[in-house]
Amino acid sequence: MRRVLIAGNWKLNGTIAWAKEFAAGMKAQNNGNKAAEVCLCPTFTSLYALGQELAGSGIALGAQDIFWKDSGAYTSQVSAPMLQECGVSYVIIGHSETRGRYGVPEPDFTPEVLKHFGETDTTVNMKAHYALANGLKPIICCGETLEEREAGKADTIIADQVTKALKDFTGEQAATLVFAYEPVWAIGTGKTCDTAEANRICGIVRSTVAKCCGSAAAEGVRVLYGGSVKPSNAKELLATSDIDGALVGGASMKVDSFTGIIDAA
Ligand code: PGA
Repeated sequence: MRRVLIAGNWKLNGTIAWAKEFAAGMKAQNNGNKAAEVCLCPTFTSLYALGQELAGSGIALGAQDIFWKDSGAYTSQVSAPMLQECGVSYVIIGHSETRGRYGVPEPDFTPEVLKHFGETDTTVNMKAHYALANGLKPIICCGETLEEREAGKADTIIADQVTKALKDFTGEQAATLVFAYEPVWAIGTGKTCDTAEANRICGIVRSTVAKCCGSAAAEGVRVLYGGSVKPSNAKELLATSDIDGALVGGASMKVDSFTGIIDAA
């Protein structure tokens, strides 16, 4: 039986003081002791302080990215021992925003600027191997843009991203991974993917895991849906056969709305 995971991705939001206040609100709602597993992914600068606040609460701490080496001349990067020192157990890898794929147009994000977000399927795979080998649980993101969906390519894009993320993973390893299907056009736009369609694509993620790593891996792997998840649509999404949780952006930034999603699970 797969345990539902509700992960909050705060992206580039929140100071340390704000994160501490949020943790107090989460603890007051007893959110670490509910049916769903709960995880908060703040900015790097808030990780340590939030980890201290969450210790013993049952709420897990996650990072928004990782590098694939422990230490060295890699300016700006962060490694597994550094994250673990802060109390991190989950790590988001290959979010569409770190891949430079945005659903909401930003005028200053020219093609040249987008190169800044240099994530590729290869680095996603390297980070996932490194994280897992060092005791962290990867949440690997995949998703298609609106253009790709309208061209009828969503299914192949997802299968391709998942296949490349799974390169050289054994079935046993793959069973412990978490994937998050996040249609790029539904992130931060208020547009949720229709429940049946979200479940169908999460099913493609699972069948791709089966194809690459075997059916036991597909049974074990958790597939989250992300993209404008809120209390009002969480129950329906989480009641489907292939959605095992949610990766939540905007609605994870208010204790009440995040609690509403946790309670829906
Ligand atoms: P959203 O973001 O819930 O604000 O759409 C989800 C995500 O990007 O993980």
